[in-house]
Amino acid sequence: MSVNQSLKPITTGVNNKGNITIGGCDLVDLAQKYGTPLYIIDEATLRGICKDYKNAFKDYKNIKMMYASKALCTSAITRIIDEEGFGFDTVSAGEIYTVYKSGVDMSKVLFNGNNKSRREIELALDLKVGRFSVDNFYEAELLNTIANEKGINVNILLRLTPGIECHTHEYIQTGQIDSKFGFDLTQVDKITELIKNKYTNLNLKGVHAHIGSQIFELQSFCDEIEILIREISRINQKFNLKLDEMNIGGGLGVKYTLKDNPPDVKELAKVVTEAMHKYSVDIPTIYLEPGRSIISTAGVTLYTVGSSKTVDLNGKIKKYVAVDGGMADNPRPSMYQAEYIAETVVKNEKEEEKITLAGRYCESGDILINEITLPKLDAGDLICVYNTGAYNYSMASNYNRVEKNAMVLVNNSQSDIIVNRESLDDLISHDNIPNRLRK
Ligand code: LLP
Repeated sequence: MSVNQSLKPITTGVNNKGNITIGGCDLVDLAQKYGTPLYIIDEATLRGICKDYKNAFKDYKNIKMMYASKALCTSAITRIIDEEGFGFDTVSAGEIYTVYKSGVDMSKVLFNGNNKSRREIELALDLKVGRFSVDNFYEAELLNTIANEKGINVNILLRLTPGIECHTHEYIQTGQIDSKFGFDLTQVDKITELIKNKYTNLNLKGVHAHIGSQIFELQSFCDEIEILIREISRINQKFNLKLDEMNIGGGLGVKYTLKDNPPDVKELAKVVTEAMHKYSVDIPTIYLEPGRSIISTAGVTLYTVGSSKTVDLNGKIKKYVAVDGGMADNPRPSMYQAEYIAETVVKNEKEEEKITLAGRYCESGDILINEITLPKLDAGDLICVYNTGAYNYSMASNYNRVEKNAMVLVNNSQSDIIVNRESLDDLISHDNIPNRLRK
């Protein structure tokens, strides 16, 4: 079993006090020391999945692992993933800067995104980012102009839209999909011609695609690879080029609830390897850029229970229990109807009841878990929500002017702060009152 198939961090246990532990740390102690809501990242789980990927692909030397930083990008997380030997897929000046400041070899960084600004392109070039994934005609022109001004050449991949659309448990293939990302296959010849004849500061190294996220259906990767290989062969032949890189994106799913059944990383490796052998084209470098499956399982969020409310819906009793966080630290339930599991941190013999776990934000839609059965909760009880490592902190907001959570890294019974809790002064630190309004 690979780590992405686990519901909880791999070090999760219960100690002799009956409290949940992760990374050897008692969650009650962590709540006391750092306060709640608190993001917790288990280092062993994070390193575990990195090793799963490396082991699964070890016989396939052409694979280069890139972490999609958008899932969770902080300096300490970047350090760990860098130590594991991954490169980084970045999509903004902020991600590039974080990766750079964390000491990453910038030649292992890819800059991707559908509307990179001049400022971001300049920063990426100045910091010597290894590859750009060029998304559209506008960007190709702009990147070439800036590279020309700087007197440099840039290695690029072309972001393609291969016509495969993935939903969580199924996928569809269509001639052309409605996507804001990348070149349609019908535009590939035109952009290649421009690069060859006009954009002489761009070195075309290969192609890039990303077919979706939280993917359980591995066949979609085979189809993607087939399309990309076909395009590479076609481009090589028609334009007398030798493209030698193919980036197949990220997307492998994780297990948020018992219903989810994501594939083992080994199965993904098998599918990718077999697809590569099937077409026996020599593509020296294949990039994989997973985000969610690298960091999701390693993360949990710790909350404290506060108020509760019972409503009588024509005889059907519904109980809301509110915690001290919610949609600003985990927007996924309200944005995508995402489902999570949770547990009380202190194991007890209390009678169980079905509740709705609500957030503290001023919005009816701020519900973390719609229906969950837990031991009866009292104010002050601690709740652990699992699988919050990916796309939680990275999509967090200051809605209702609430300070963002702290984040701690746990490992071998040690805990370290890796993101400080925001303070009230942090919240107003970017505000400015024009002189005429000052008191
Ligand atoms: N590469 C590209 C070009 C991407 O756009 C993405 C994700 C990835 C790699 C990483 O995909 P992953 O392995 O994480 O599935 N906020 C949404 C997920 C958006 C994913 C966007 N692109 C969520 O919370 O479910």
